[in-house]
Amino acid sequence: MIPTLSHEFDSGAAAASAAVAAAAPGHGVGVRPASGFDADAIDRMGIADLEAVGSDKWTRYPGCIGAFIAEMDFGLAPAIQQAIRDAADRCALGYIPEPWKRRVARACAAWQRDRYGWDVDPSRIRVAPDILEILEVFLREVVGAGHAIVVPTPAYMPFLSVPRLYGVNVIEVPMLRVDGDVHAGTHAPGGESGWAFDFDAIERAFAEPSTRGFMLCNPHNPIGKVLTADEMRRISELAARHGVRVFSDEIHAPFVYEGHRHVPFATISELAARQSWTATSASKSFNIPGTKCAQVILTNDDDLDLWMRRAEWSEHQTATIGAIATTAAYEQGGAWYEDMLGYVRRNERLLDEWMRGLLHKVGYVPPQGTYIAWLDFTPLGLDDPAGYFYKKAHVALTDGRECGRAGAGCVRMNFAMPTPLLAECLTRMADALAADGLI
Ligand SMILES: Cc1ncc(COP(=O)(O)O)c(C=O)c1O
Repeated sequence: MIPTLSHEFDSGAAAASAAVAAAAPGHGVGVRPASGFDADAIDRMGIADLEAVGSDKWTRYPGCIGAFIAEMDFGLAPAIQQAIRDAADRCALGYIPEPWKRRVARACAAWQRDRYGWDVDPSRIRVAPDILEILEVFLREVVGAGHAIVVPTPAYMPFLSVPRLYGVNVIEVPMLRVDGDVHAGTHAPGGESGWAFDFDAIERAFAEPSTRGFMLCNPHNPIGKVLTADEMRRISELAARHGVRVFSDEIHAPFVYEGHRHVPFATISELAARQSWTATSASKSFNIPGTKCAQVILTNDDDLDLWMRRAEWSEHQTATIGAIATTAAYEQGGAWYEDMLGYVRRNERLLDEWMRGLLHKVGYVPPQGTYIAWLDFTPLGLDDPAGYFYKKAHVALTDGRECGRAGAGCVRMNFAMPTPLLAECLTRMADALAADGLI
């Protein structure tokens, strides 16, 4: 049985967090920043406040710090809140009409142009409820049952499970650690990612007669790797040699840190544009996944034609409220997004300090993007760290094994939470390990 929260977690950070929890959000808040991203108010949010908001992250494992599902705890950009209120006032929430699809496409195209320098024609951008729906169309129509998709691992969990629902075989290709020992204290030196593609293994997988697809995730959830144009060129060349199509999931593109740059796969060459489907969404960067409006960018005329003939019902399932929220995010959410990214970076630096300090025995490569960290507990001899921390620290993490065979002994951790809660989360984990003499 899972014990309830108690004084056993009463470390310094926990006590500090209890104090911020006591200051409910909204109480004593000073002048709200112009962007609407109120870091001070977020810092004051405690577990009870987040449970009261009622997200999956904070209700699925009651009493636990939610660090598993990829949601952020930072509220909403004011422009999104206003757009949703206005839509309710206008009673404008029927099935998604064509004009809203076109507005989302234009807003998405402008975001791609302004943020990544990709001048994409809005008529190539179509909508679907979420990225997985787009992937499902790709699996059904491009890969096809009885064929295979190659997935670098560790991977975002549904990339391994969803293909199987469509009779598509998954060929896992583990990523390589390039900084030597996969075990303790292997912090990647500056400028070095610490993760690399195993191109030989990828080519062998591409050479399998059944292989038709490749799953690219950039930035890569859960390892936080931001791909270079050279890496993508190599993938594109190998894919061309073996007639493999590329699904490029770029949902985490807004979370790329200094020293790295998001390069959309379809922009690296005409070949790559013809090979790929690009899937994106404002759902991660503005925390609106429940509003259901992702975008697919189809840079190959035949694919666009296929989508129009075969994905009508995917478009129809897209939510009007999502189109409204997404358009507001892309068009008016820029300042909120910049401040939010600064907060995420602050959390990443805190995490990094812990990983260099008390938790230095844990295998860790600082992410280059995303708000997700990959922690390897095999040096400590933990074979089920997610279960261990759930039981002993009341921290809910993703079991690395859900991310592929390469994930045994690892966990995926979402660090997009109030900074004091992140400190409490790490304190609880370290306290549990220390009590067992593991650190
Ligand atoms: C890499 C990746 N792709 C897709 C998704 C799904 O996002 P959505 O349901 O908002 O489309 C997620 C969510 O965490 C993700 O991390």
